Amino acid sequence: MSDSPSVYDAIVIGAGAAGLFCAGVAGQLGVKVLLVDHAPKVGEKIRISGGGRCNFTNRELDPRAPHRHFLGGNPQFCRSALSRYTAGDFIDLVRRHGIAFHEKHKGQLFGDRSSEDFIRLLLAECGAGGVEHWQPCRVEAVRREGERYAVDTDRGTVHTPRVVVATGGLSIPQIGASDFGHRLARQFGLDLVEPRPALVPLTFGGEAWQPYAQLAGLALPVRIATGEKKAAMAFDEDLLFTHRGLSGPAVLQISSYWTPGTPIRVDLAPGSDVAQLLAQAKLRSRKLLANELAAIVPARLADAWTQQDPGWQRPVNEAADKALGALAQGLARWELLPTGTEGYRKAEVTAGGIDTRMLSQQTMESRQSGLYFIGEVVDVTGWLGGYNFQWAWASGWACGQAL
Ligand code: FDA
Repeated sequence: MSDSPSVYDAIVIGAGAAGLFCAGVAGQLGVKVLLVDHAPKVGEKIRISGGGRCNFTNRELDPRAPHRHFLGGNPQFCRSALSRYTAGDFIDLVRRHGIAFHEKHKGQLFGDRSSEDFIRLLLAECGAGGVEHWQPCRVEAVRREGERYAVDTDRGTVHTPRVVVATGGLSIPQIGASDFGHRLARQFGLDLVEPRPALVPLTFGGEAWQPYAQLAGLALPVRIATGEKKAAMAFDEDLLFTHRGLSGPAVLQISSYWTPGTPIRVDLAPGSDVAQLLAQAKLRSRKLLANELAAIVPARLADAWTQQDPGWQRPVNEAADKALGALAQGLARWELLPTGTEGYRKAEVTAGGIDTRMLSQQTMESRQSGLYFIGEVVDVTGWLGGYNFQWAWASGWACGQAL
C-alpha cells in the first residue's frame, strides 16, 4: 500500500453529462477533482443528442412527482436531487453562458445552434473549478486500500478518498459506452437491476409484418399503449415506420415500458371517429375505400391497410357495414407483438443499472463508503424529452455538493 498523500479529493470516472457537471460543481466548492475518461473526446453523447442541438432539459418536469417522467425500481429515489437542482436552475446556467435556446414540443428545450455550446458550458464550469482532465485515459482497476481508493490507470495509480462513477449506460458502444460502472458495483457487492435497452426502436418480423414493410419512412401522429390496467402506459406522439419495424418518439417512449412477449396497441387515427366518418362517406361517395380513408390517415397507410382484405378493396358505397366496422376497429386498436428491440446499438438510454437501494438519495454515495454513482449508470431512466440530461445534472449536482 502506498503512503503517499491523496493528490485528489475525488476522482470522477466518465466525462459525460453527469461527470462533467459533477466535477465542475465540486471543483467550484474547493474540491480538488481529477476527471478521467477513456474516450478521446468529452461529452460524445451530448454532441449527438437532440439531433445535434441537445434537448438539455424539460420545463414540464415536476420534481414532486418524478414517477410521471422517470422509471426504475423506485422512481421516488430521484425526487430529492431533482428538487434541489431543478430544470430552472440549469436554464439559468444556460442563460448565464449566453446560449440561446427554444422550446420545441411538450416542454422540451433545445439549443438554437449546436450541442457543442453545452459541452463548452460544461468545460468552462470545470475550468472555473480547476478540474484536472486525463483523457483518453483507461481505468484498469479501482481498489480499496485502507481508508481510500487506488485507481489504476494507463497513466499510473492515483489515490483518493472518493470515487465518483459516471460512466453512463451501455447504449452506443461505438462512442465509448461500457459496462465499467456495473462491473465496479458488482466488485464492491452492490446490487444491480438487470440493464436493458430503453428509448429504442422495436422490431417486427415474419409474415404478419409483410403488409407494413412497404411503409418504411412514413410518419404519423398516433396514440400508443402497452400494459394492462394499473400497469398500462400510453403516449400521444409521432410514429415512424422503418425497414425493420417501428420507431419515432411514440415507439421510443413506449419501448421503455414494454415487456418482451407482450403486445403494444396503436391508435392510428387518434381523435378521429373512423367508424362514423366511413359511415357518412358510404352515404355520399363512390370513391374507393382507400381514397376515402386517405382523408383520415396518410394515403400510403390507407393503401397498405386496405390491401389486407378484399372486402376493403371496393368503392365505399359498396362496402359491407361489417367490413367498414372491422376496418375502423383495426385502425383504432392495432395490436401487434414486437419480436424485440434494435438493442444498445440504437437505444438512447439503458434502463436498469445500480439499484437505488444501494445509494443515498441525498449524496449518491453507495453503501460502499466513498464510492458514488451518478447519471445513467443508476437505475433511473427518464422519458424522451430532456429528462435524462436533467437527471445527469441533478444527480451530478447532489453528488458534487457532498464530495
Ligand atoms: P454519458 O454516456 O453521457 O457519459 C459517460 C462517459 O463515461 C462517456 O464519456 C464515456 O466515454 C465514459 N466511460 C465509459 N466507460 C468508461 C471507462 N471504462 N473508463 C473511463 N470512461 C468511461 N438525453 C436527453 O435528455 N436529451 C437528449 O436530447 C438526448 N439525446 C440523445 C441522443 C442519443 C443518440 C443518445 C444515445 C442519447 C441521448 N440522450 C438524451 C441520453 C443522454 O445522452 C444520456 O442519458 C446522458 O448522456 C447520460 O449521461 P451520463 O453522464 O450518465 O453518461
